[in-house]
Amino acid sequence: MSVILSENPSSGILLLRFNRPEKLNTLNQEMRDELIRLLDAAAADNDVRVVVMTGDEKAFIAGADIKAFAAADADEVKSWNHEKFWHDLGAFPKPLIAAVNGYALGGGCEVMLCSDIIIMGEGVKIGLPEITLGFMPGGGATQRLPRAVGKYRAMQMILTGSRIGAAEALEMELASEVVADRDVLSRALEVAETVASMPPLATQKVKQAVLMSQEEPFFDGMKRERELFYDLMATEDRAEGIQAFFDKRKPVFKGK
Ligand code: CAA
Repeated sequence: MSVILSENPSSGILLLRFNRPEKLNTLNQEMRDELIRLLDAAAADNDVRVVVMTGDEKAFIAGADIKAFAAADADEVKSWNHEKFWHDLGAFPKPLIAAVNGYALGGGCEVMLCSDIIIMGEGVKIGLPEITLGFMPGGGATQRLPRAVGKYRAMQMILTGSRIGAAEALEMELASEVVADRDVLSRALEVAETVASMPPLATQKVKQAVLMSQEEPFFDGMKRERELFYDLMATEDRAEGIQAFFDKRKPVFKGK
């Protein structure tokens, strides 16, 4: 059985389910390789407009598989080239939605932080326990978390390794929405359907522009946003969207 199950629940949506339930979906090398292989294929597939990642009711991902790290020294860990995994996940060009139940710890929290929309269940347990294991996050949490929630909340989470629940996550803007645990996946798929119905060139450029707001100086980001906006003016989908508005009908976007 594959460590990630892949489904097409409806047109334009790729659903990826982490599938190591006996190990709380902890990230091992097989899962890292499989996730990037599936995302590379999704990036190249015009029929995929949005990807939803989820786990099961107990865990989204309970972190990196600690066993692999136990016996490894720095050179061995470097040889695993996890930089590429985190880079490729963060650079996935299409909208990525995390549907999170249960534990999202360590590397699992960092996978969640790489997504663009986060739908959380009321029973989530989110945290970065690396410090309690004697090291620190290495999958982007020290960079993405402060950008998401500010320095002081991020420092407290990372320095104490303590877990937060859904109410706290929502209050600190670490979630797009919190819903009942049983509704997480259906709500994520509902949001995915809306995103999938939008013009795909525009959703990808929106992602590019919003991610830029976290990386580039403000006026460089404003300039780049304008360029992306002009790029979209030339698309068939832009003409279709406006024509459909005048015709009072639903637009049919083709990604052109
Ligand atoms: N690595 C390896 N195995 C793990 C694991 C992990 N991160 N988390 C859970 N497991 C395994 C357990 O060893 C157990 O396996 P066995 O049945 O073979 O003993 C199985 O998953 C089920 O776990 P528990 O019995 O512990 O389940 P629980 O419900 O009692 O507790 C938990 C759940 C609180 C999440 C607990 O498992 C736990 O604390 N796990 C560790 C979480 C953690 O520290 N994550 C961060 C890892 S470091 C990291 O992610 C950073 C990085 O990228 C390098």
